[in-house]
Amino acid sequence: MIHEIGPHKIMHGDVLRYSEEFLEMVGPAVDVVYTDPPWDERVLTGFYEASGVDKWLDFELFLCRLVALYEALCPDGLIILEFGYRAFDKHLLPILEASGAKTLGSFVTSYGLKKKPIDCRLWFGTFGNVDFISVFPPKLHGREQVEWVVDTFIQPGMRVVDPCCGVGMQLLAAQKVCAIVYGAEINGKKVDKLVKRLNCRLR
Ligand SMILES: C[S@@+](CC[C@H](N)C(=O)[O-])C[C@H]1O[C@@H](n2cnc3c(N)ncnc32)[C@H](O)[C@@H]1O
Repeated sequence: MIHEIGPHKIMHGDVLRYSEEFLEMVGPAVDVVYTDPPWDERVLTGFYEASGVDKWLDFELFLCRLVALYEALCPDGLIILEFGYRAFDKHLLPILEASGAKTLGSFVTSYGLKKKPIDCRLWFGTFGNVDFISVFPPKLHGREQVEWVVDTFIQPGMRVVDPCCGVGMQLLAAQKVCAIVYGAEINGKKVDKLVKRLNCRLR
């Protein structure tokens, strides 16, 4: 099911099972993919269970298909991934390397009440002449970090997509700076929350 909220669009469904519908919903290539997808098998299983949907892919296949989707959505733009730090080397890097993606940089921040330094960020794709090393932020935490990314890389009018958008922390931050946002989420309750918040902002 697709929700249209002004210029923004959110799909409720498994983005890998319905990737053609999702690509059609989004339309032409976007400027930015900004996303924090499930980062290991256990987390992925938990998300499927919470959504009441059968898990039909193991984590490695899930990631391979997701990376292919990022490339289809955003062949020339910027792809910003946020990943659990420890899962990163083990799972993500070989898949990204095999896809030929160019790593532009990464940094570690923190999340959660205990401010654990376990998030890793990676950029790849092409994005003007931004020198990613010099714009890396000081240590940031949670929402502060999301806002930093948005302020640094997202301009009004840009088209931004998150194929695993949850309740939309990244998309809502992008919408706040007047980007047009697209998302998909398997969990209907999260979709409802995000749609409600986008609707409120348009009123
Ligand atoms: C780490 S969370 C994203 C959190 C989000 N950035 C937020 O602010 O809430 C990953 C999300 O991906 C969703 N997800 C997992 N597998 C999915 C799939 N196949 N299709 C769509 N969404 C999926 C989960 O339900 C979860 O909400």
